[in-house]
Amino acid sequence: MSILQVKALNKVYPGKIATHALTDIHLTIEQGEFVGIMGPSGSGKTTLLHMVSTIDEPSSGEVLINGSNPFQLRKKELALFRRRQLGFVFQDFNLLDTLTVAENIVLPLTLDNYRLSEMEERLRQIAERLNITSILNKRTYDISGGQRQRTAIARAVIAAPSLLLADEPTGALDSTSSKVVMESLADINERQGTTLMLVTHDPLAASYCHRIVFIKDGCLAAEIHRGENRQTFFQKIIDTLSFWGGNMNEFSSVRV
Ligand SMILES: Nc1ncnc2c1ncn2[C@@H]1O[C@H](COP(=O)(O)OP(=O)(O)OP(=O)(O)O)[C@@H](O)[C@H]1O
Ligand SMILES: [Mg+2]
Repeated sequence: MSILQVKALNKVYPGKIATHALTDIHLTIEQGEFVGIMGPSGSGKTTLLHMVSTIDEPSSGEVLINGSNPFQLRKKELALFRRRQLGFVFQDFNLLDTLTVAENIVLPLTLDNYRLSEMEERLRQIAERLNITSILNKRTYDISGGQRQRTAIARAVIAAPSLLLADEPTGALDSTSSKVVMESLADINERQGTTLMLVTHDPLAASYCHRIVFIKDGCLAAEIHRGENRQTFFQKIIDTLSFWGGNMNEFSSVRV
């Protein structure tokens, strides 16, 4: 079964002048895929992620995660559904500064009453995978941006979600940290089989995806697939951006 099915999705933000942010979006993501979403500023990327993450409701159309429609759940069930099925990573990390790295990571498990031994084992494994074992007892303000984002990724995947959603996870990072964060995400995708949906402006970050969907003015504009070679894919992304973006200035500057 597909992890995500988006069918005929529309989103209109009401107002004096209504904004048609998404128009008739169809998108299917299979188990284990790593999908990137790109497009100019204001094209509807975050809106799409908000519909999938159930933060906001579609105006029409359907979102199915693992075959079920989260918008039909009651509030309590929805909270549980989000904790079990979805993981979130944001540009600005969203960590709690009063807690240590370890405490931040296990937070989702404490909400679900996991046994202490189970929490410790999962923490050990995920910290090792993300190479943050040595900083587990530090406070989040004593670590680098890249380490913060890897902490946020550990927190997002510790409960083994079906789908990990990331909105500009490298947006606040320098190119070296971005690379480490993207390698971590690719590693989690490959070795844990976590399905990923990533919104990014950054062609280098996007080159880690298997497939990239381009959105323009709220509509799907193009889709490209990665072959064996990430460098070739990177060039293909640049070419597609310049073709569909029309104006490359709409995209943030390219980092290699
Ligand atoms: N809460 C909101 N209320 C009204 N309009 C909104 C709201 N959120 C987004 N929009 C509008 O919907 C459109 C799509 O916005 P969205 O945030 O999805 O773009 P984006 O592709 O994520 O852009 P960026 O790359 O700058 O993050 C824009 O025209 C935006 O102004
Ligand atoms: Mg956005």
